[in-house]
This record gives sequence, structure tokens and C-alpha cells, in this order.
Amino acid sequence: MQPALSQYLLRQGSYINSEWHSSHNSFAVINPADGQVLNQVADAGPEQALAAVAAAHKAFPGWSALPAAKRSELLNSWYQLLIKYQTDLAIILTAEQGKPLIEAEAEINYGASYLQWFAEQAKRLDGVTIPAPSADKRIIVQRQAVGVVAAITPWNFPNAMMMRKAAAALAAGCTFVVKPAQQTPLSALAMAVLAEQAGIPKGVFNVVVGTDAKALGEVLTTDPRVAKFSFTGSTAVGKILAAQCAKGIKRVTMELGGNAPFIVFADADLDAAVQGLLVAKFRNAGQTCVCANRILVDKSIYAAFISKLLAAVNGLKVGTGFKSSSDLGPLISDEALQKVAKLVDSAIEQGAKLELGGQRHKAGKQFYTPTILSQVTADMAISQQEIFGPVIALQQFTDEAEAIQLANATDYGLAAYFYSRDIGRVFRVAQALQFGMLGINEGAISNAAAPFGGIKHSGYGREGSQYGLDDYTDIKYLCLGGLE
Ligand code: SIN
Repeated sequence: MQPALSQYLLRQGSYINSEWHSSHNSFAVINPADGQVLNQVADAGPEQALAAVAAAHKAFPGWSALPAAKRSELLNSWYQLLIKYQTDLAIILTAEQGKPLIEAEAEINYGASYLQWFAEQAKRLDGVTIPAPSADKRIIVQRQAVGVVAAITPWNFPNAMMMRKAAAALAAGCTFVVKPAQQTPLSALAMAVLAEQAGIPKGVFNVVVGTDAKALGEVLTTDPRVAKFSFTGSTAVGKILAAQCAKGIKRVTMELGGNAPFIVFADADLDAAVQGLLVAKFRNAGQTCVCANRILVDKSIYAAFISKLLAAVNGLKVGTGFKSSSDLGPLISDEALQKVAKLVDSAIEQGAKLELGGQRHKAGKQFYTPTILSQVTADMAISQQEIFGPVIALQQFTDEAEAIQLANATDYGLAAYFYSRDIGRVFRVAQALQFGMLGINEGAISNAAAPFGGIKHSGYGREGSQYGLDDYTDIKYLCLGGLE
């Protein structure tokens, strides 16, 4: 049964300049597990997005001029509140997104860890002096906040993806306007409640919730007061938004889709590889950009690996996120489920073998059974697209060179995983794989200390880590002369 949603954190409209906005039109936020309406939320249009940008623009001089230690203190207060309200936040997250409560709690902690991390990094926004070419000069390099940051964040991690951007932006001294996905606005609005409680000043953090993604996106990518735009979502949408930003020469961070290979070499610890694959594949029911998508297994251990995998995946429980036994929740929409089912069906038509699952799950309309397909080949749609569902698609390879060639045969370059106990191979393969992030004998790679981001069609820019502030700051060079 669904626990009650916190009335303190549950809001009905956009948060702009520290005010809660209503609107003539509203839209329903739906629980994907059972189709129930959770809340009606005011549907913001472009005028609200403009108001949010104006508020962020007005707040920027004051916020960026605060001592770093003060910004750090405020971010830290916000972090403490996330921890205090983590159960309530997790309940809202599971209700609107569907993931099991235990995963929602982990996501709240993950989102909070970015606040904690960047509260520290705010104090380390240092510059350098560079030896000058003549004795009468000094070269000083400083980093300054870029200005207003606008962001569009996805439904798969409604808390953490927003906090990864907001924490870095605010730490650097930028002000922030976010449009969360229309499927999951409640988590973002709940964070605005806590931002206000933490004392984040008026106009520094703004949330615009609405269904007209095109019109809202147009404001956030073209308004001249926005200095930087950050997006997490599909490559197709990212290309459109990046093109819009290009007209105003805006700074851009794009965290886009992936098609992660997960390679199991013959010398791997197979039990560890199975456990790593469960994590890398089934987190959020497979709806994660860094999810393992193409499972490449050495032919000499293929049969042994499948048999261990079948035993492990058979044990996974599907059900609503509030059932404590559930390992996997629903997919976000019926459309998403149909896309997954179509990829599975077409792979089978083209010769893949169904080892497990391959159908909707009786838990509800949007639930899909954990599925294993073997004899998958690189030319199948399931190997070429992001599955975004709980499906393991197994391919075979004969040697290291073929594994690398198969792994790199994609336009995407976000995450890749491989399992091997041969140290020479570990370094060779790590060097050869064309991806921004590698899990080596590890299925869980995301954390605030790590630089998250991709290459190729998976985007550019890094979030988290000591590099995470770079995208929110400009380098300013001061040439000090006449010193002799
Ligand atoms: C994503 O799916 O976009 C990111 C998930 C993560 O941070 O691990």
C-alpha cells in the first residue's frame, strides 16, 4: 500500500522567486504502478519560464558575490534537510516514478551527496598564477560564475539528476532555473520547499513545471539572460536543444543517451560478473542511461555464464515500489513498455533465443518481466538502441579484439563495463574502449566524487568530482603590468 505523501513537501505549482505559482491549466501527476492520480499541478507556460529567468538574473549579482564559505554553509543546510526528510522525499519519488522504495532512498542519498560534495568544492574554487614572459608582469587566473544556469532534467532520477546540476551551479555562484520532466515534477518541487527552508535566497533556485516542453525549452535555451544550459535526456532531444543554444553561443552540458557494453572475458570471476550485471542492468528497471545494454560474453564461458545468470535473474521480484519484496518496479509509461516489448519481439523474430521472460508482468499494466535473450547479434535493433527496460541481450565474442570492436561499434560513448582478472588486459581494454566512464569488475559507477559524462553522441561536460565546477565557471585572465 502507498504511504501518505508528506503534505508539507507536496506542492501544486512552479516555484519562482520564492513564490508558489498557480495557473489556469493544470496537469495530473500519475503513479506509473497503478495509474492513480497523485496530484494536480499548475501547468506553467513560457511566461512563467521568463519570470523564472528574470528572477535568477536579478538574484545573480548578490548570490555570486557571497563569500564561498557562506554559499557552502547554505548548501550544507539544504543537504541536512534532504537527510532529515529522506523518507518523505523517497515516498514521493517512488509514487511518481515507480522505482522500489529502497532505490528511491538510495537516490535521495545520491542527490544529497552532490550537495554535500559541492558545498565543499565551493570553497576550492581557486585560481593560479602563471610565470609571465617578462619581469614587469604577473599572470593571474581566476574562475568566475558564468551567470544564470537553465536546466532540463529527466524522469528516471528526478531528484539526483537535478541536484547534480543545481548543487554545482549554486556552489560556483550561479543562479538556477530547472524544468523537471512532466512525469515527475513533485520531487523537484519538494526540493524547492527544502531550499526555501534552508535559506537559499530568493531567485537563486527556481523550478518551472509544465507540459509544453517545446515552449519552455525554447525560453531556457534562447533567452539571452541564460548563460549556460545543462540537459540530461535523450540524444535526439539533446541535439535540438544544443542547436538552439548555439544561436546564443551558450555554454552547454549534455548528458545524453548510452548503449553500454558489458564485457565478460573468459578470465573473469563469473559470480562477480553476474552480480555486477544485475546492478548495471536492473537499477530502476533498466531505465538508466548508464545501464548495461549489450552483454558481450566470451564464447568459452557463454553457457556457464547464462546458467548462473538465469538462476540470479529468476530470483528477482517484480511489483509496486512500496512492496518491500520488489526488486523492479513499473516502466514509466505504457509507450515505454511497448517500445521494450517491440525490441524483444523483433530480436526473437530475427533469431535471438528467449531464455527468460519476454512478456508483460502480472503486477500491472506497465510492468515487464525481467528478460534474458541469447544469440543476439550486433545488427539487431536491440543492440543498436537504448533498451531502457529490464532486458539482458547476450552476444558472443571469440577474442579480445572482437570484444573491443563490438563494444565500440556504436555512436554512443557514455558508460562501458568489463570483467577480467588479467591486469594486462584490464589496462589494454580500458585504453581501447571509447566511453567516458568504465566500470572494471564493477557494476555501480555513479557517485558524487566521480566525473560523470560521456563522449561521442552521449554528450559533453562532466558532472560531479573536482571537474564538476568547470562547466559553471569562466576562466578570467588578469595581466598585471608595470611592476618593475
Ligand atoms: C542517468 O540515467 O542519466 C544517470 C544515472 C546515474 O547517475 O547513475
